[in-house]
Amino acid sequence: MAGQVHAEISAAPTGFAGELTGRFALVTGAGRGIGEAVVAALAGRGARVLATDLDADTVEKVAAQYDGGRVTARPLDVTDAAAVEALVEDTESAHGPLDIAVNVAGILRSAPAIDLSDEDWAATFAVNTNGVFHVCRSVARRMSARGAGSIVTVASNAAGIPRAGMSAYAASKAATAMFTKCLGLEVAAQGVRCNTVCPGSTLTDMQRGMWEESGADIEAARRSVIAGDLGAHRTGIPLGRIADPADIAEAVAFLASDRARHITLHDLYVDGGATLRG
Ligand SMILES: NC(=O)c1ccc[n+]([C@@H]2O[C@H](COP(=O)([O-])OP(=O)(O)OC[C@H]3O[C@@H](n4cnc5c(N)ncnc54)[C@H](O)[C@@H]3O)[C@@H](O)[C@H]2O)c1
Repeated sequence: MAGQVHAEISAAPTGFAGELTGRFALVTGAGRGIGEAVVAALAGRGARVLATDLDADTVEKVAAQYDGGRVTARPLDVTDAAAVEALVEDTESAHGPLDIAVNVAGILRSAPAIDLSDEDWAATFAVNTNGVFHVCRSVARRMSARGAGSIVTVASNAAGIPRAGMSAYAASKAATAMFTKCLGLEVAAQGVRCNTVCPGSTLTDMQRGMWEESGADIEAARRSVIAGDLGAHRTGIPLGRIADPADIAEAVAFLASDRARHITLHDLYVDGGATLRG
């Protein structure tokens, strides 16, 4: 089974069109990859989406694919707490309350722990952990005052299993996953749900960048991720494929929706079984 490459799925199955009609969602890191797929999944279910990214051009291009102002784009650096608060305040004043917030923005600096620079460590936590804190604090304050809301944080399966060469990234994601749970505990009584989606290897620029950095042939690297590498203490992917961004977005859309109305403080691993959690 491991090593077998299944056909790529370009879009995950839908069938829930309209289930988010009337909802308004904020998505960070929406300019490409998983964030872009989350915008498609939420807008495809009828939500209005505020798509944000550090890279203003890419997120403008994402929004331009949708008609009728369903998706609007704004530049946002999640490391800037004041900018996050101002954007949430201005958005809610102009366009109404946010019902859903999805933290997707993230960066990966891979290196052995003993070679990581202070800047690698700080930059990783600034985006992956502090950024999630900034967004959650701004939206959860308002959602809990209104008595409803759903927050989904995209962490990583590296939050739950040690990975060589990924210590800063894995630590930042473990911190963000636990932060999301603690927040969820605090705001549950106010009707706000907080969940985490933990993707495994997913075919995006982040994954391709990691393969390119290692100097490996892309197809060989892809097969090696699927097959696993016991020398690196890494099991393969039991389902035999690298995730498509739409696979992750489907899980996010489910947790954001009322179908998950009794689910909070949950970590949903979407990694083809790679961390053997079932
Ligand atoms: N691709 C994978 O294999 C994988 C696996 C597990 C988890 N993840 C996580 O999923 C999320 C999305 O990953 P991806 O593969 O789509 O990555 P990606 O690099 O393709 O896209 C990340 C996006 O985040 C944006 N971003 C970076 N810094 C930002 C900042 N300071 N403020 C706002 N936006 C910022 C980038 O501009 C980019 O558009 C990340 O949090 C990542 O850690 C990815």
